[in-house]
Amino acid sequence: MKGASFLSIALGVLSLGPLAVVAQLSGSVGPTTSTSAKRSKKVCNVLDYGAKADKRTDVGPALTKAWAACASGGIVYVPAGDYAMATWVTLNHGSGVGIQLDGIIYRTGTAGGNMIVVENSNDVEFFSSNGKGAMQGYGYEIHKSGSLSGCRLLRFVKTQDFSIHDLAFVDAPAFHVFLDQCTNGEVYNLAIRGGDHGGLDGLDVVGTNIHVHDVMVTNRDECVTVKSPSSNLLIEQIYCNWSGGCAIGSLGADTAISNVVYSKVYSVNCNQMMMIKSNGGSGTVQNVKFDSFIGHNNAYSLNVDQAWSSMSKAAGNGVQLKNITFSNWKGDCADGKRRGPIQFKCSADVPCTGMTVSDFAMWTNAGAEVDYICQNAYGSGACLKAGSGGAYSTTTKVTSAPSGWQAPKMSTDVTTSFGFTSEIPIPAIPSTFYPGTSPLKALAK
Ligand SMILES: *[C@@H]1O[C@H](CO)[C@@H](O)[C@H](O)[C@H]1NC(C)=O
Ligand SMILES: *[C@@H]1O[C@H](CO)[C@@H](O)[C@H](O)[C@H]1NC(C)=O
Repeated sequence: MKGASFLSIALGVLSLGPLAVVAQLSGSVGPTTSTSAKRSKKVCNVLDYGAKADKRTDVGPALTKAWAACASGGIVYVPAGDYAMATWVTLNHGSGVGIQLDGIIYRTGTAGGNMIVVENSNDVEFFSSNGKGAMQGYGYEIHKSGSLSGCRLLRFVKTQDFSIHDLAFVDAPAFHVFLDQCTNGEVYNLAIRGGDHGGLDGLDVVGTNIHVHDVMVTNRDECVTVKSPSSNLLIEQIYCNWSGGCAIGSLGADTAISNVVYSKVYSVNCNQMMMIKSNGGSGTVQNVKFDSFIGHNNAYSLNVDQAWSSMSKAAGNGVQLKNITFSNWKGDCADGKRRGPIQFKCSADVPCTGMTVSDFAMWTNAGAEVDYICQNAYGSGACLKAGSGGAYSTTTKVTSAPSGWQAPKMSTDVTTSFGFTSEIPIPAIPSTFYPGTSPLKALAK
């Protein structure tokens, strides 16, 4: 049974295009029915179910009706145009269905929750065919009064064999895109742009066998972040353009994260390049690689903090971090003495083991010193101690620029943010997400 279903998944993907076999993932990802096959089966145009592209009529009820008509096979089609969304929708039990958002959905409702939830579905694609589909959350209308309560934009829950691509998610009142217990997914060619404030996460991932690539996030909280439980994730070509930065966490009790690769992550003006964050807690994060990171002017760079003061202490002595590699990190940090570019602040009760830092060269924009801080962390490279036991704390001061620290910049970097109290424009999807690379899949036009 298992073999047969796996074969049909592989054949489905082959018919969509060449299949890159990536060892990190545990199987094929993405929808199993091609877009054209879905389209030829049935198209459910929201305009035929009561929607109007007048930026006033609530598109919610029309989306629900179009979904009901196409959920067992077909395309729910939102044509180019401006739509208001006043009531939220939960689209569940779909199979072999696409949601083609070629228009723009503007939030007008004020409820919390999620504007669009896709739940308990399989073989689902949420995309635009013209690269212009977007959800505009107008979060600034809520944020300017000092409130951060409000809805998230898109949440996929317990859904498998799915993709989300070629869309912009803008100015969410709360989080932008959340994958909750999903499997076999591909998420790519996204532009996420939120307010310059905490609590407005970009893309959060909880799941198994998911390929995230070519995603840009501008905000002041999570860029692309993995939460527990998760395994077999490949996250590459990520552009954190004035963001909080990427992270694993926050981690609490019974953490279970393994086999995660982040590769080609570019971070500019962020809080950090990568943070693993916890306070107390239990369980494990293991077999993780962070390869080819470029940073410019971030506050923190490599930052492991197991006593993170921004979260309240979870039950347990600490999350065990083991077998984690940081390789080929280049660029500059804001102030390498004030906030050193390598910080392993591991728990004394549950030390980090099997940590590796190699080919790490970062310099500072302020001053002429960078500090590496290692506490209770074992492995090789930087200030890490060999072995596996006993509490210790050490700081290594580097007072001349390490060779090869300079790293390329993206031409689209910015030096100011969008704030969070005025309207944030919908961005175009960038044509590159990491210096010298093209998106792994061509952008929709
Ligand atoms: C360490 O993690 C890597 C993946 O990052 C994996 O290939 C390797 O087998 C792991 N080593 C051990 C001893 O588990
Ligand atoms: C990066 O973010 C800034 C705003 O913070 C924006 O002006 C710029 O267009 C963004 N880059 C891209 C490629 O969208």
